[in-house]
Parts: sequence; structure tokens; C-alpha cells
Amino acid sequence: MITATALAHPNIAFIKYWGNRDNALRLPVNGSISMNLDGLFTRTTVSFNSTKRDSLSINKQEVTGKGLDRVSYILDLVRKMANINERAEVTSENNFPAGAGIASSAAAFAALALASSRAAGLTLSEAQLSVLARRGSGSASRSIPAGFVEWQMGKDEADSYAFSIAPADHWNLVDCVAIVSSSHKKTGSTEGHAIAGTSPLQNARVTDAPRRIEICRNAILKKDFEAFANIIEHDSDIMHSVMMTSNPPLMYWQSATVEIFHQVREWRASGLPVGYTVDAGANVHVICLGDSAKEVEKRLRKIPGVSDVLVAGVGGAAKVV
Ligand code: DP6
Repeated sequence: MITATALAHPNIAFIKYWGNRDNALRLPVNGSISMNLDGLFTRTTVSFNSTKRDSLSINKQEVTGKGLDRVSYILDLVRKMANINERAEVTSENNFPAGAGIASSAAAFAALALASSRAAGLTLSEAQLSVLARRGSGSASRSIPAGFVEWQMGKDEADSYAFSIAPADHWNLVDCVAIVSSSHKKTGSTEGHAIAGTSPLQNARVTDAPRRIEICRNAILKKDFEAFANIIEHDSDIMHSVMMTSNPPLMYWQSATVEIFHQVREWRASGLPVGYTVDAGANVHVICLGDSAKEVEKRLRKIPGVSDVLVAGVGGAAKVV
């Protein structure tokens, strides 16, 4: 086969990946845990053919420069593994709005890893696909397996991959993403990982990571929402403390971001099962039990500064379509 199409979901991290021990290989300084976001996806088609160079189109727009280079880097790894020389035509579409604050790189590189390896005639294991996706974007390693996923930091390159700790139907969690308008141009994750070590707090964050992973994994396996909400908020706050104290400092929060933190904690204290987590941006992922999703969405929409709310359940694995 020379053409293949794959679909992958973005994911939201509950225990965060922030900082690499090897930036080129994207070998992280700590393990992380996430869930895939159902309903949101990237669909990517890769065709190896006789064209002169690789080409990339995202949402029908031609992409060149750094965006294309990052894709060619993955295609080169695949060409080497499959022992082929053909250049590729890559066409990708997201069903979620750009600028909605959902990191598209995780779904994008997971779909690219699967589509390109299949198109090149390779049948990689889930772990090998996760490693390949990781080389394009660290968090993409977690968009290969289904449901609730852990990415182990691993001992070496082949050992740093993600695996499912529970299937999508294990626990009916819903992510209500509160979109907070931000006029600031944010620093991307790749640049952020590179300066994480400049914060004096990063060492403490990394040393304590196995403890947080353990608590989060157990909370998911036991469906203990209170323990789960406490640990994801704690982990997100620790990562943002590192970001704010790195050089240069990264402050992703807006005032509405902080307002949502206060509200979410009040709602939980009064019995609504909710907890927050924030990636490298201002938007707040408010995680709740499925039964409460409608109520949470309604409350979030009333908070000044929230321009929209996206709602996603737990998603499955990346797949060939
Ligand atoms: C804050 O995976 O986007 O979302 O490897 O440079 O592509 P690159 O970084 P990326 O970093 C994600 C950072 C985060 C936390 C997380 O998803 O674990």
C-alpha cells in the first residue's frame, strides 16, 4: 500500500509532561498521564509517490517552512525503517477550530505516525507507534493508545512510550474546555520544555512526579473523583509554578483563568464533581463526571471572559480509516 489514512484524538494531560532530558529525541524528565478527547480528531492521509519533495496541507492550506520540516523529520524516520526513498504528500484536517486552545500537535503527530508507517508498508506495534509519534511531539505519544493513558519516561529511546491504563468506557469523565480569550502571543510548548530547567522549582516537580503519577493512576483505576480532582489541580499548579519561575518567565494564565479556578473549587466544595487543569495556554479544562457535564457547561458559560465551552468525553485509540 502506498496510501493510508489515520485518525487520532487530542488528549488532556492530568499529570503533565514539562521538560526533556533529551530535547531532540523528546525524552521527558518525568512520566505523564492523560485521557483522549472523544469527538475531536485529526484525520491525516499520507501518500508516498514520485514527487520531488514532501508536501503538507492542513485544513486545505499549504504549509511550508518549519511546519513542513517537522513532518518531514517523521517521514524520514519512516523511510529509513521501511527502506524507501519516495517523497510523500500529507493532507491533514482537524474537526476542532484552530485557536480553540486544544493542542493540535498531539492528534496531528499520532495520526501522522500511524498513516505514514502504514503507507510505507510497515506494521508497527502500539509501543513503536507511540515512540514514533513522540519524536514529532511528546504529548502525541499519548494519543496512540485508547482511553486513559500513561507515558512512561522510559530508560531509553525505544522504551519511552505510552500505554493504556484503562479503556475509554472505564470511567465516564467529561472535559469541558472553557475558552478564555487571549490577545497575548504565547510561547509554544517546544520552547517551554527547553527552558523548564531554568526554574529552581523544576527539580522538586520532577523528583515528586512518581508520587503524583501513582496517586493519579490509582484515582482513575478506583474512580475516586475527589482524589482525582485534587491531584490534577495540584499537578497543573506545580507545572505553572515552574513556568512562571523559568527564565524567561512564562505566564499563561489570564484573569478569567484564575476566576475559573476559584469557581471550580467552590463548586466542588458544595458537592459538584469538578476539577481543573491547564496546559500551555489560558484555557481551563474543567473535568467532571458525565452526569454533571450539562450543569458545568452552563455555569462556565456565565463566567465573564469565557467566550466558548467545548465538551468532550473519553476517546479511543488512533486508528486506520
Ligand atoms: C503543557 O507535547 O506540545 O500540554 O513535544 O514540544 O510538541 P512538544 O510539546 P507538547 O507539550 C505538551 C505540554 C503540556 C503538558 C502535557 O500535555 O503533558
